[in-house]
Amino acid sequence: MRVMETKNYQELSALAADLIGAQLLLKPRCVLGLATGSTPIGAYQRLVEGYRAGRLDFSQVRTVNLDEYCGLSGEHPQSYRYFMEQHLFSQVNILRENTHLPNGAAPDPEEESRRYEALVESMGGVDLQLLGIGRNGHIGFNEPGDSFPPVVHPVELTESTILANSRLFDRVEDVPTKAVTMGIGTILKARKILLLAGADKRAILEEALTGKVTPWVPASVLQLHGDVTVITCREG
Ligand code: GLP
Repeated sequence: MRVMETKNYQELSALAADLIGAQLLLKPRCVLGLATGSTPIGAYQRLVEGYRAGRLDFSQVRTVNLDEYCGLSGEHPQSYRYFMEQHLFSQVNILRENTHLPNGAAPDPEEESRRYEALVESMGGVDLQLLGIGRNGHIGFNEPGDSFPPVVHPVELTESTILANSRLFDRVEDVPTKAVTMGIGTILKARKILLLAGADKRAILEEALTGKVTPWVPASVLQLHGDVTVITCREG
């Protein structure tokens, strides 16, 4: 595992975008695993700048996102599809048919999970998976629990995640209580993993990277993957 520490969030974002950009240059038809949350926004902005400057081309890239809320369609401003459109897809030359997220409006989340796991598999797996980390150590929406979920599955969100994510909704009651997420097994199959954690996540990051590997700190499982890069920063 490589841990890189930058001075601040701007540098973290620039470095993350450099590593993602390098992946695009090395393999233009790569599969990128993407994440939502506040942390990757700066990296997405830098990637958009790279595209506008003519340095990056997304025309062949295929993407799969980690997760999506249940009960929100892609047009809902708090859905992760909407987030991706806003921060990346609508601003670069990516083909919409090459972008994938679980369908939050699917009537049967179990069936949607099976479809999404098979889709990731059929794409030949993820070349580079971008991750954030929740305050309780979750990755994707794999919440602390007594096992590591192997495949894409529906989850009930914990109270702490609902509260943390409520900052983006008008009212806490509006936050969906369920999501479909890649499993820990799905995430670990990625050939490379890039975890971004801002200064506010240093305590949980430390616990995940140096503590015991346990499903009660889901991100701790990354200690078992052979190609993980972590970027963190000293100040916001
Ligand atoms: C959400 C997402 C995670 C993300 C986490 C941290 O719960 N499902 O994939 O890593 O939030 O988000 P932030 O970067 O906003 O702290």
